[in-house]
Amino acid sequence: MASTVTWLCRLAIFSVLVLQILAGRDFYKILGVSRSADTYQIKRAYRKLAKELHPDKNKNDPEAEERFQTLGAAYEVLSDTEKRKIYDRHGEEGLKQGDTRGDPFSSFFGDFGFGFGNMREQDREIPRGGDVVMSLDVTLEELYNGNFVEVLRYKPVAKAAKGKRKCNCRMEMVTQQLGPGRFSMTQQQVCDECPNIKFVPEEKLLEIEIEPGMRDGQEYPFVAEGEPHIDGEPGDLRFKIMQVKHPRFERRGDDLFTNVTITLADALTGFEMDIKHLDGHTVHVVRDKITWPGARMRKPNEGMPNYENNNVKGSLFITFDIDFPKGVMSEEDKKGIREILKQDSKQAVYNGLQGF
Ligand SMILES: *[C@@H]1O[C@H](CO)[C@@H](O)[C@H](O)[C@H]1NC(C)=O
Repeated sequence: MASTVTWLCRLAIFSVLVLQILAGRDFYKILGVSRSADTYQIKRAYRKLAKELHPDKNKNDPEAEERFQTLGAAYEVLSDTEKRKIYDRHGEEGLKQGDTRGDPFSSFFGDFGFGFGNMREQDREIPRGGDVVMSLDVTLEELYNGNFVEVLRYKPVAKAAKGKRKCNCRMEMVTQQLGPGRFSMTQQQVCDECPNIKFVPEEKLLEIEIEPGMRDGQEYPFVAEGEPHIDGEPGDLRFKIMQVKHPRFERRGDDLFTNVTITLADALTGFEMDIKHLDGHTVHVVRDKITWPGARMRKPNEGMPNYENNNVKGSLFITFDIDFPKGVMSEEDKKGIREILKQDSKQAVYNGLQGF
């Protein structure tokens, strides 16, 4: 009798669960990727589809707008480590419960305490392997143009091994009747027996996309590629973008800075030059007027591409310093230069630091 009730109960929960998942959309299908797709594959699928499905390109299709929005919703969830985890467990409905940290289903299943894959324990209690953070040196050229980098990772993978091991250990209350009206309650650790496993390192090639405009210190996650956990889920692997110093350009936000040394003759009479940019194109600089030391020129749209919108670029700031001729000039030359410059002898003394 009791077991029939339990079974009915399980069945009820099961159908609720199935309905919940069916009620939501299949984001993996929408993006056309497998459930084990990594962040890179998801991004690539999204970019491709976003171009195809963009409403501007499908003006005659009344459903284009909606399909584009659905695609956006799928990408938003699957590209976010936290949201994707909730979605994998509870479907779209799980995300609708508001705060992604408070898992609405955890207490539900926790109370019944019956095994259903990952939902057995409360989310917080699922043991998790460590996150692995790896620095990745990236040149400014790569951050400007974008690039694909392959990284070989030796990842411990669980393999079947001989014997059994204790698993799913938890504390349970055990009540014993000692006599009429007398009970003892003790807390006991209870474990299940699982087939034994061992971790074997395996090679795995990860493809990382360095996207144009990524920032120094930005992290690129691979969900579940971190350290495994024998009783729980693996941690994440995160690549941390480390921008290496560039000989010609300094980056601040989306702006680039460079210095150019010109001769005194160029400074006075004007000049033309080309600066080679990070993708090889040239930035043409023309000066007709006199250029003074420390003069700064701004070239809009010649900075770094913005990460969120690659079509927007920052500015390139060029600061000039002047290479003065050395030595002594002849009296004749001195006189000639004074005549040309038409400047009287004048010296102004001032506090150039102004408190700094
Ligand atoms: C290079 O330019 C920056 C501003 O862009 C300036 O602060 C710095 O002093 C310049 N360096 C030299 C050596 O002139």
